[in-house]
Amino acid sequence: MSDRVDSGRTRREGDDVQDPKVPITIAHRGASGHAPEHTMRSYEMALEMGADYIEQDLQLTADGTLVVIHDDTLDRTVRGPADRCSGPVMSRTADELAVCDAGSWFNEEHSDLADPSYVGLGIPTLRDVFEAFGRTARYYIETKNPAEAPGMEEALIAELERAGLMPGDTSDWTVLVQSFSPESLLKLHGLRPQMPLIQLLDVESDPTEVDLDRIAAHCVGIGPDRTLVTARLIDRAHERGLAVHPWTVNEPDEMERLIATGVDGVFTDFPDRLVSLREC
Ligand code: G3P
Ligand code: CA
Repeated sequence: MSDRVDSGRTRREGDDVQDPKVPITIAHRGASGHAPEHTMRSYEMALEMGADYIEQDLQLTADGTLVVIHDDTLDRTVRGPADRCSGPVMSRTADELAVCDAGSWFNEEHSDLADPSYVGLGIPTLRDVFEAFGRTARYYIETKNPAEAPGMEEALIAELERAGLMPGDTSDWTVLVQSFSPESLLKLHGLRPQMPLIQLLDVESDPTEVDLDRIAAHCVGIGPDRTLVTARLIDRAHERGLAVHPWTVNEPDEMERLIATGVDGVFTDFPDRLVSLREC
């Protein structure tokens, strides 16, 4: 195993999340392998399991509220009155969404994990999440489909500042902001250059040297599809001071392999699995 892994101990309160010897655990959509994604319960569970970060995927409502939901439509993960709880997120106001149920679908899909307490869990606003966890959590926030949601970046900045969570400089990693959209990240960098940003890379986006140079000019890391990760990619990223946080890794063997290869963190639906590996 790589000497980047601090295999002798558990992460402790106050540990530096940029310590290269201790890969971070990013709870993908919360502990979404155990509980309905992007619900308060999935975040609570992730933090109870020892995750370093809880992830939020952002969508903007018709009236400009940031809500935390992965899809740009409500149909997969939301139940409730059709005139409020179906169709594009952007077609609904925050008040309309407030009656919707983001937990029942999980019980329908995962009978083995079903829990009656998930029924009726709401779609959180970003403000709800910040108010619930404040500085007791770290946040890994994605601007989702930002080209179709003008004002998303400004709304995110406003919520961070309202919550007192705007980083003072890029070395403060209490909040990391990620996007597949270079335009969204460049906009955020232009508005608040102190924000630590992560460029997401999909499976089609194996970065060239020029790409990595461009990313390193305004980002602190890359979030590659897990299949893009090689020792060479990690070296090329680290040469530029970029952290490497692949997504989404759920199998312990692959977690171990990626950590041994030198990644700095991992997105997973099962934070308990990654935390227990780190404790070995
Ligand atoms: O943000 C990393 C990963 O979550 C990207 O994929 O579709 O789950 O948001 P997705
Ligand atoms: Ca995401």
